[in-house]
Amino acid sequence: MAEVKWSDSLSVGVDLIDEQHKMLIQRLNDVSKAVQVHHGAVEIARTLSFLADYTDFHFSAEEKHMKANDYPGLGDHLVKHAEYKQTIKNLSDDFEEEGATAGLADSINTLLVNWLLNHIKETDVQFGTFLREKGVVLEGEVR
Ligand SMILES: [Fe+2]
Repeated sequence: MAEVKWSDSLSVGVDLIDEQHKMLIQRLNDVSKAVQVHHGAVEIARTLSFLADYTDFHFSAEEKHMKANDYPGLGDHLVKHAEYKQTIKNLSDDFEEEGATAGLADSINTLLVNWLLNHIKETDVQFGTFLREKGVVLEGEVR
């Protein structure tokens, strides 16, 4: 799978969220690469755990800002984040049990990468528009 590159088409118009999405995409690329080039199991497990950690950090940050700004789409968004975190967990469990199979590589592509790109374009972008209309500028760390 080709490396995913962040581009303006993925911008939600809010710098903090865009910068965190760039980091998240980098971590996804690290996982894909580790699986594709048949890095050892320890390295693959490490990239998966970095991905899970950063996903938690980033989703928590988005959710915190949604709550703080009384975002009406919070409930639906929380459900989507929870599903994605569960997907990462399931794939990590599969990897622990079966190793870096072709199925794992496919699942990373479809369930993690495509999901995230869609989520950014369809769901996060709505939060970005909401914040801009309110004139809110988010503060926080990218890590
Ligand atoms: Fe989100």
